[in-house]
Amino acid sequence: MNRQMLFDEHTEFLSYPQDSVRKELEMKFKNRMREELKLRSLISYVGNKEVPFLRLYRYKEAFSFGLVRYLFKKLDVNPKDYIFDPFSGLGTTMFTAMIHGIPSIGADKLPLAHFISKTLPMFLSLSEGELKDVWESAKFKVKDAEPAEIALDVPIMQVAFDREVLWTLRKLKSIIQDLSYPYNDILFYYFSLFWRNVALLPRMGNS
Ligand SMILES: C[S@@+](CC[C@H](N)C(=O)[O-])C[C@H]1O[C@@H](n2cnc3c(N)ncnc32)[C@H](O)[C@@H]1O
Repeated sequence: MNRQMLFDEHTEFLSYPQDSVRKELEMKFKNRMREELKLRSLISYVGNKEVPFLRLYRYKEAFSFGLVRYLFKKLDVNPKDYIFDPFSGLGTTMFTAMIHGIPSIGADKLPLAHFISKTLPMFLSLSEGELKDVWESAKFKVKDAEPAEIALDVPIMQVAFDREVLWTLRKLKSIIQDLSYPYNDILFYYFSLFWRNVALLPRMGNS
């Protein structure tokens, strides 16, 4: 790796826009920042091998459970502390805090991130096979369901699916919305993964 790209010793080589707040912050904390390359494999959601449902949504910006756990240990964070994550993403930091009995609060500007971070802890309330049972009995209602509203004015909706598939997906969405909490949110989370993959298709096709 080109070490000039790693901040710390070479911060001065980076160019900042005029009046950059980032520059101000990096300069202010320069002496407190250091590289820990051994954490490389833990930085992103890819490191969530031990918690598969944290990897469902491939959110590049998410931290891994292992990284947060490592930092809690290193900083000796305990249940008497309070975690505040002002850029909480899918909520990995808050989720890890919850597992360790540490209260937390977070914020993120993306509504989807907020939805996923409040849904993730609900996976822990499920017993083995419970979600499958709920799905098995719900799926028979899809055929006769009223199709749910979707954003038909969003261009990708008009080209991503043929009419019949889109019609079925709208019915599926309506069935999921009618389920009780937390099944509705958990299955809607799975449903949103499906839309996300479709949204990624054009980019994947170009790569
Ligand atoms: C690196 S991710 C956060 C990872 C998260 N802390 C975790 O534990 O996995 C950064 C997040 O900051 C959010 N973000 C960026 N600018 C923001 C702003 N001005 N206010 C709130 N959230 C913001 C992004 O939507 C993104 O989800």
